[in-house]
Amino acid sequence: MARGGGGIAVIPTAPEQARNRDTQFPYRADSYFQYLTGFTEPEAVLVIVVGQGDAAAQSMLFCREKNLEREIWDGFRHGPDGAREAFGFDAAYAIGELEAKLPELLADQPALWFSIGHDADWDRRIAVALNAVRAQSRSGKRAPPAIRDVRAELDVMRLVKDVSEIAVMRRVAEISTGAHVRAMRFVAPGRFEYEVEAELLHEFRRQGCEYPAYTSIVAGGANTCVLHYVGNDRLLRDGDLLLIDAGGELNGYASDITRCFPVNGRFSGPQADVYDLVLDAQAAAIKAVRPGATFADPHEAALKVLAQGMIDLKLLPGSLDAVIESESYKRFFMHRTSHWLGKDVHDAGEYKEGEHWALLLPGMVLTVEPGCYIRPADDVPEAFWNVGVRIEDDALVTDEGCEILSAAAPKEIADIEDLMRG
Ligand code: GLY
Ligand code: MN
Ligand code: MN
Repeated sequence: MARGGGGIAVIPTAPEQARNRDTQFPYRADSYFQYLTGFTEPEAVLVIVVGQGDAAAQSMLFCREKNLEREIWDGFRHGPDGAREAFGFDAAYAIGELEAKLPELLADQPALWFSIGHDADWDRRIAVALNAVRAQSRSGKRAPPAIRDVRAELDVMRLVKDVSEIAVMRRVAEISTGAHVRAMRFVAPGRFEYEVEAELLHEFRRQGCEYPAYTSIVAGGANTCVLHYVGNDRLLRDGDLLLIDAGGELNGYASDITRCFPVNGRFSGPQADVYDLVLDAQAAAIKAVRPGATFADPHEAALKVLAQGMIDLKLLPGSLDAVIESESYKRFFMHRTSHWLGKDVHDAGEYKEGEHWALLLPGMVLTVEPGCYIRPADDVPEAFWNVGVRIEDDALVTDEGCEILSAAAPKEIADIEDLMRG
């Protein structure tokens, strides 16, 4: 905001969502709001005023008031005074005062920093406040002449994690790898996918995660070829592969890890062929994660290995160049290799600036997750039918290259088989 000439920012947290009668979805604060405040109660708004020139920035929280009656039913509320002290705001007010205060705060500011279009109700409230200022134009009050996208600036900040964020991301990755190991030990023919999901959730919660970072994918047999399978209700059979894509969320930070292994603890020949191909592709991609590389480099590295492997396994005809040029590989590898990771599992931040892919910088965190998914078809060798493999790790870009935050979950065939035998 200071770089952009000052003004006032209005950053509301997320609304609560009804699930069904008298029942709410678990509450999750808005990622931008939480990033700036650490405050996780619903019905809260952060206002920041950055004056022009040397005036100090002011942070203001609007939040729920203390209310003994509600606290008996629903639990502790900080209230404005408590929140100001505990979280270090310059000022704090009851949320009910926002509507009256907002026109005063907006008046004569050079810009309003707000993210229009994400919440229709908030768009309307902002319009009402702006019109209240415009209505005072004869007393010399002026509404901000510019509206700027505050999320665009915050995205740039969120893309590079600071030391405290990295510490939390290391910890949530550690918890999540523990959950994958627990699942590997538990799985056997005759178990149901949901029983495996329960093991993951148990481990996340037992270690202090607030939630899973996204709905866990526990996909056996043919379901390994469904990219976002969340049914999680099928029986696991001898000879099936199992793909688990699951990560916990801790202090509002996600992990996102995929492991893939045989239900009976031993990879069959064709399963091992596809698995090792994806593992090689992932290794090539991880090598390409280093400062100065672009966001696209890991994907291109993985793609070359995968495309050549598809030709070698007789999944695809033609030369490597032809397979890449025609994109025929997309039949078996239809997603990209990486996304940013942070507070959101698909985290904030641009991937391209104009024609140029984003450059990787130390402190950025991205997933590396190549895959190969083979559905039954007449022109595909039957041995590979219903073999779906994805291997996904979380990579922190460092000064020299990258640190794999999720390395503790085994992924070499021998290591997985050892663990499952044990
Ligand atoms: N679990 C979602 C993803 O891997 O992107
Ligand atoms: Mn994932
Ligand atoms: Mn992912």
